[in-house]
Amino acid sequence: GTTLATSAAEKGRYFGTAVAANKLSDSTYVGILNREFNMVTPENEMKWDATEPSQGQFNYTSADRIVSHAQANGMRIRGHALAWHSQQPGWAQNLSGSALRSAMVNHVTQVATHYRGKIHSWDVVNEAFADGGSGARRDSNLQRTGNDWIEVAFRTARTADPGAKLCYNDYNTDGQNAKSNAVYAMVSDFKARGVPIDCVGFQSHFNSASPVPSDYQANLQRFANLGLDVQITELDIEGSGTAQATSYANVTKACLAVSRCTGISVWGIRDTDSWRASGTPLLFDGNGNKKAAYTATLDALNGG
Ligand code: G3I
Repeated sequence: GTTLATSAAEKGRYFGTAVAANKLSDSTYVGILNREFNMVTPENEMKWDATEPSQGQFNYTSADRIVSHAQANGMRIRGHALAWHSQQPGWAQNLSGSALRSAMVNHVTQVATHYRGKIHSWDVVNEAFADGGSGARRDSNLQRTGNDWIEVAFRTARTADPGAKLCYNDYNTDGQNAKSNAVYAMVSDFKARGVPIDCVGFQSHFNSASPVPSDYQANLQRFANLGLDVQITELDIEGSGTAQATSYANVTKACLAVSRCTGISVWGIRDTDSWRASGTPLLFDGNGNKKAAYTATLDALNGG
């Protein structure tokens, strides 16, 4: 293929990007989006603070703009994220216990129902495990409602949109470590008990302090061996030139080597679109030109 999307499709994968609704009026941005990608993840627009700014008052305006653009251009959609400790509206931050649990269940139901039939994969729960060596759940208001909040979110999402793949998504789980081992144990338990889960998302935010792990492919494979899909969901790699390009190629090759790695999404289009305040972690420079990292990714998709 000659684009990320067509080359990935030839390998039975998708290639996606995070999209910000307020950039859909930027013709350079939209030109690259429409040419190169066939999956979009709303970068912020489907989060709790955006979709339910007041309790029970839902606002889908910005998210719907992205969904409409995707549908009009034959792209699929990764929903992000139904239940997360971060980017909660103020009213939810101030809830606890059964009131918060009920609000979370209602939120999952309402948002997943609004988008029923339109979402390829949902990040049902995002970033619920602690960093470091503890293997513990992350402390949060949601966690304090009871350890079963994650499976409740998944069962609720399945009921609301039975056609969407339901994913658990996290960062620093890209190699085998205490955090990914804890996620692995949870997913194993969910599969054993019939809690509906279809995929695990590996965010894959890499930098010099946290490079692509040497056991990245093996880690993807051990999750796939549990009988679900794996996806690379928020890929960005700090750096430049050949080193960055090689890292992108290695990530791409790892996904292609795992039959149940169904797609790769980068977390933005141009370096200037990145959530990272400075740096050059993406595939296109600020002018929209292809970087060495782009060419290496495309070549890897094409088996080069
Ligand atoms: O929209 C407001 C704007 O009105 C206001 O003037 C401005 C001033 O700060 O803030 C704007 O909101 C910002 C929003 O991005 C949109 O640009 C928030 O402050 C800012 O916190 C928010 O950052 C997002 C971040 O998640 C929040 O946690 C990033 O764009 C987004 O890329 C990032 O994405 C996360 C994934 O959801 C989960 N995994 C990690 C990833 C990177 O942090």
